[in-house]
Amino acid sequence: MKNSDFGESFVWGVSSSALQTEGAFNNDGKGLSIWDEFSKKKNKILNNDSPAIACDFYNNYKEDIALIKQLGIPNFRFSLSWSRILPNGTGKINQQGIEFYNNVIDTCIESGIEPWITLYHWDLPLELEKKGGWANREILKWFEEYVTVCIYSFKRKVKHWMVLNEPMVFTGGGYFLGIHAPGKKSLSKFLSAMHHAVLCQAIGYNTIKKTHSAALVGTTFSCSYITPNSTSKKDAIAAIKMDALLNRSFIEPSLGLGYPMETFPFLKKIKKHIKNGDNELMKVEFDFIGIQNYTREVVAHCFYIPYLKAKIIPANKRKVYHTKMNWEVYPESIYKMIKKYSKHNGVKKIIITENGASFKDELTNNRIDDKERKQYIKSNLEQVLKAKTEGLKVDGYFVWSLTDNFEWAEGYSQRFGIIHINYNTLKRTIKESGKWYSSFIKESS
Ligand code: FCB
Repeated sequence: MKNSDFGESFVWGVSSSALQTEGAFNNDGKGLSIWDEFSKKKNKILNNDSPAIACDFYNNYKEDIALIKQLGIPNFRFSLSWSRILPNGTGKINQQGIEFYNNVIDTCIESGIEPWITLYHWDLPLELEKKGGWANREILKWFEEYVTVCIYSFKRKVKHWMVLNEPMVFTGGGYFLGIHAPGKKSLSKFLSAMHHAVLCQAIGYNTIKKTHSAALVGTTFSCSYITPNSTSKKDAIAAIKMDALLNRSFIEPSLGLGYPMETFPFLKKIKKHIKNGDNELMKVEFDFIGIQNYTREVVAHCFYIPYLKAKIIPANKRKVYHTKMNWEVYPESIYKMIKKYSKHNGVKKIIITENGASFKDELTNNRIDDKERKQYIKSNLEQVLKAKTEGLKVDGYFVWSLTDNFEWAEGYSQRFGIIHINYNTLKRTIKESGKWYSSFIKESS
């Protein structure tokens, strides 16, 4: 496989996000986010890890961008922290936050690296959560204000924008399952958060285009190829419903197809949150969509799960090869998802905005045995190439992630980075020209 097999327009990049890498969680005027608060509570994050320092990207962004350059990667996807820009979520702008992102963007551009900005990667300002967060319809106005500030501040320098990162995960994990910040477990909050996020996808797009018509604007969706656990009719129905929930409920309303209520009637409950004019407002013609795929899910009928009547069977229970996240290594999934989304006329272009794997490869004697990650990425890229060769709409691939980082509820237990960090010393190890070497960056407590 060669770079050129993918064609000239194909974009290659690495991805990261603010909360997972920046640290400096209340420095230089930044307000707290829901994740800063969530991580203070006992036993929410594995080992009670905190994102307070993370990868110290706030202080080391120059070194990190230099590593991207050294690795020869031309595009860098990162997110802006809403509460670093607007500490209270609305109102007062924190100029030091604007300056920080200007520095990051400038460093990228000077290094020949194109910045791709995600506006929202899960770190809602805490002050907004106190008013109900994503479950409060006011978020439509809050979000518009935040996007306006970002666009006015950075528009001249940034062409590629993504509105939301994986809305299914932050609404489902944060407002229904309670495993992610803000830790709520409410069906009604989940459905209102879902609807507001769908509307914000469009509000974000419209707000950017209004003042920056040359911008290329997309948004990202999590997705997994879903297969039934058996040939039984019950499992088949369970799989179809799970697919509607996980893979269709955010993209289809934006394409003008509405929520997939016919397939998953439970979603009819969302109707009480839909106001006059919303169905029109939800529609967007994104310049591209980002799809983020890591695995497939095998689904079985389950009487005890309310509404869905379906459950995911974890990879270890199925005794299949899996990553440290217990995600099955199943490269065909990425091909299936590209194929699924390419079928929509409204989808113009697909970029794989995240794909990668966490394995147990520990740093020993300054060397890392990284065979599994390399094999994972290679076999996924083979599937992307297959899709590309068949004329499907995929035209880019970003690996998750540049450095190991704070993996949400998993804390620092997971290593997704193509650059490894030893968190005790923040020592980073990179691979270059077939040789591993480590560069000492900074001692940190
Ligand atoms: C995705 C998230 C990203 C990271 C990877 C492993 O769902 O968007 O922040 O946690 O998973």
